[in-house]
Amino acid sequence: MSPGLLEAVRQRLAESGAEPTPARVAAALRAQGRLLGDAEVLGGTERLRCELVGTGPLEPLLADPSVTDVLVSAPDRVWVDRGRGLELTEVTFADAASVRRLAQRLAAVAERRLDDARPWVDARLPDGTRMHAVIPPVAVGSTCLSLRVVRPRAFSVGELVTAGTVPPGGDRLLRALIEARLSFLISGGTGSGKTTLLSTLLGMVGERERIVLAEDSAELRPEHPHVVRLESRTANQEGAGRVTLRDLVRQALRMRPDRLVVGEVRGAEVTELLAALNTGHEGGCGTVHANAAADVPARLEALGTAAGLDRAALHSQLAAALAVVIHLVRDGAGRRRLAEIHVLERGAAGLVVTVPALRWAKGAFAAEAGWERLRILVGDAL
Ligand SMILES: Nc1ncnc2c1ncn2[C@@H]1O[C@H](COP(=O)(O)OP(=O)(O)O)[C@@H](O)[C@H]1O
Ligand SMILES: [Mg+2]
Repeated sequence: MSPGLLEAVRQRLAESGAEPTPARVAAALRAQGRLLGDAEVLGGTERLRCELVGTGPLEPLLADPSVTDVLVSAPDRVWVDRGRGLELTEVTFADAASVRRLAQRLAAVAERRLDDARPWVDARLPDGTRMHAVIPPVAVGSTCLSLRVVRPRAFSVGELVTAGTVPPGGDRLLRALIEARLSFLISGGTGSGKTTLLSTLLGMVGERERIVLAEDSAELRPEHPHVVRLESRTANQEGAGRVTLRDLVRQALRMRPDRLVVGEVRGAEVTELLAALNTGHEGGCGTVHANAAADVPARLEALGTAAGLDRAALHSQLAAALAVVIHLVRDGAGRRRLAEIHVLERGAAGLVVTVPALRWAKGAFAAEAGWERLRILVGDAL
């Protein structure tokens, strides 16, 4: 079948805006007024359907339960992450235009634009998959498409131990940390598993507690009977209607949360979060991007001062607000694991510093300088 014919059918289906069922695709093909054999119609139908309905050539990759990320950097460069680092796959697109079309179609499914005026998009597909795409010329050479699969349910802590993410015995400690209602942040690099671990930990929160989530994109899926979810949104095309994470935290505080959760602390909402944790909302938690647990105070300081909070005030709030930092890493083999747990202390000059309490060494936790303090914080729960 000629590419011109396929393009004409694509156009027709896009204009009709109808769900591209096999019957409609076949009808659109026939409507081109060309005599086609049944086999040809079938072949074309299947090709177009894959392209229009699903994720096209990426479908088999996304269907693999071990795949967490699919990255397209060129028509013949499709990478996956199966938890062992990136692997190049055999999957290819016909040409650069096909990658662009797929990206645009997925953006449309998420009700977002992706065109010359708006050359990138960061959105969530109806099934929860996170998509990001940049088209040329901003992305040099080819459309860059990144998909992250959101697992429909959280891992149990037992599964994380089996997977080697949490060391043996670490599950008991994490449970004790939740039961003691300590406030904590999970730190780590991008894709180190922060959100995933937070979902798991929220599953250990008592059934009678009310969890209120504030997130930029609803990613947390805790197994818990009482979860309220708030999601921020970007401005519409007229620039109105923006709801920030900061707005959400303010609202969340009025919703009688037993656990206030900020999916990822990345901006001005740090101010509200610290204030809340200082005023009786203990047990709050979230994730924060940091390359080491020890960097967390500086990271929060940078976010807080950008929002107008003064440095000394921030550190005194931080000392009282936050009890523990749980740090995740991805090791050389691409495996995600809990590397360290730190406690916070006020250091010289009144600034907050983190002190390692536990480090994961040789398959088990090893106690460090801050362990005594952590043990006291956790108290009877351990
Ligand atoms: N312990 C784990 N074992 C296997 N896959 C994991 C684990 N933790 C996270 N993942 C997967 O890795 C990807 C990134 O995890 P995520 O929690 O979103 O990271 P972060 O929040 O640090 O960016 C997700 O697709 C998730 O399903
Ligand atoms: Mg995350």
